[in-house]
Amino acid sequence: MAEKYQNYINGEWCDAGSGETFENRNPANWNEVVGIFPKSDGKDVERAVSAARKAWDAWRLMPAPERGMMLKRTGDIMTARKEELARLMTREMGKVLTETRGDVQEGIDTAYYAATETRRLFGHTAPSELANKMNISFRFPVGVAGIITPWNFPMAIPTWKIFPALACGNTVVFKPASDTPATATKLVEILLEAGVPAGVLNLVHGGGSKVGTAIVEHPQVDLISFTGSSAVGRTINSRAGRDLKRVSLELGDKNAQIVMDDANLELALDGVLWGAFGTTGQRCTATSRLILHEKVYDKFMDMLAESAAGLRLGDGLKSTTDVGPVINEGARAKIHEYVEIGKNEGARLVVGGEPANDGDLAKGWFYKPTVFGEVQPGMRIEQEEIFGPVLSVIKVNDFDEAVRVLNDTEYGLSSSIYTQDVNRAFRAMRDIQTGITYINGPTIGAEAHMPFGGTKHTGNGHREGGWEVYDFYTETKVVYVDFSGKLQRAQIDVEY
Ligand code: UN1
Repeated sequence: MAEKYQNYINGEWCDAGSGETFENRNPANWNEVVGIFPKSDGKDVERAVSAARKAWDAWRLMPAPERGMMLKRTGDIMTARKEELARLMTREMGKVLTETRGDVQEGIDTAYYAATETRRLFGHTAPSELANKMNISFRFPVGVAGIITPWNFPMAIPTWKIFPALACGNTVVFKPASDTPATATKLVEILLEAGVPAGVLNLVHGGGSKVGTAIVEHPQVDLISFTGSSAVGRTINSRAGRDLKRVSLELGDKNAQIVMDDANLELALDGVLWGAFGTTGQRCTATSRLILHEKVYDKFMDMLAESAAGLRLGDGLKSTTDVGPVINEGARAKIHEYVEIGKNEGARLVVGGEPANDGDLAKGWFYKPTVFGEVQPGMRIEQEEIFGPVLSVIKVNDFDEAVRVLNDTEYGLSSSIYTQDVNRAFRAMRDIQTGITYINGPTIGAEAHMPFGGTKHTGNGHREGGWEVYDFYTETKVVYVDFSGKLQRAQIDVEY
C-alpha cells in the first residue's frame, strides 16, 4: 500500500477540504506508487494563509538567533536522516542516489548557513548631516512568504527559500511540485520536529493552477519565490504585480561550456559529462551547449561520443546506474520532440536520440544521453531549454566567437570555460554574461553559501542562496534619532 500524506495547515495535519487526492509515482518504475497526496484548492490555501498571517506577530518578535537554533537543529536532523531522505527522493524523482544524497547535503549546508545568518542580519549606521542626530537601518521581516518549488531539487531548492524566509522572521505557505511532494513533506516534518511553531510553516499540496495561483493572487501573501519554467514565471510575475508583491524568479536556462584549444581535454570531458548528463540533464544549471574550439573539435567529439554512449541508464537506487530516468512521460515526449527538431534543423545526431526501453527500462521514462554535433548558433536546439539529457555542440574559431555564441541566448544562469590561459580565464569572467561562471569546472555545482541566479530572462534579478537572499526576505527600516532637543530640518538647516 502506498503511504498516504497530508497537508499541514495551522499546526495540524489534514486532508484537502475537498477530500480529493493525487498519486505520485516512481519515474524509474511507473507501477510503483510512492504516495497519495491531498489535491488541494483555493480554500485550503485560504486557511494556510490566514494561519500564516496569525502566526507572524509572535514569530517576527522571536529573537532571530532563536529562530536560527531551530534551523541548526533542522540541519542536525537532516544529517541523521540523510540516507533515508535520499532514498525516498530517488524513488520519487529518479536521479541517482549519489546525487540525491548531494541534494540533501545542499539542504543541510543551507540550514547551517541560515542559522549563522540569523546572527548577522546586519543593518547600517551612518553619520547624520545634522548635529546630535544618528542614522540607523534595521532589517525586519516582510510578512507571509509564498514558496513554490520545482521537482528537480526536491530538498535543496525548498530549503534555499524556506530557511532564509524563516530565519528572517517571515511565515510561510509552501507548495511543492506535485511530482515530488513526499520529500517536501519530510522537510516540513523535520522543521516541526526542530521546533517551528504552529502556523509559521504551512504545507499545501496540489497543482499549480489551483494551489499556486491561489497563493500568488492572495492579497495577504506579501512575497513569492518561484523556481520553474519561464512561461509560468511570467504569469506569476504579472499576477503578483497587480498586487505589487515582491517576487523572486529562477527560470529557464541554456548553459554552455567552452573548451579552448589549450584546455586539458580529459578534464573538460569529465566536466561536460557531469554537467550535461548529471540529474539526466534536468538542472537549471545543466550544460546544454558545448562550444568547442575548431582545433580540438574532432578529437573531443570522438572522446565525447564514446563516453556518452557508455553511460549506464537505470534505476537511481542501483549502484551501477550513471543516469536515471526523466521525471515523467510528458517530459520525455518533449525531449524527443526537440531531438526531432534538431534533426530537421540539420544538426548531426552523434549518439542517443531516442527513448531507452530495453528490459527494466521499459518500466520507466528513460531517454538515451544524446549529443548533437554541427549545431549552428540560432538553431532551436541551441536556443531553447530542453531540460533533458541533450547536448548541442557548436564549433567556433576563437575565444571571441566562443564568448559571443555563449552570450547569444535569452538566458544567463551558468557557464564554464576550460582553458589554461590565465588571460582568457579573466576575460571570460568579465565578458560572459551569466550569474555564475566556472573556470575549469562544469556548469553545475553551486554552493549553498554563494548567491545563485542569473541574468536576462533567467529571472528577475534576484539571487537565491548566499547572503543576497536575506535582502529579499527582509524589509529595510531606517530610523533617525534626534537628540538635539530642537527641530532640525534636513536639507534646510545645513549649508556647506
Ligand atoms: C537547479 O538546477 O535548479 O549548481 C539547482 C547546481 C546545484 C543546484 C542546481 N547545486 O547544479
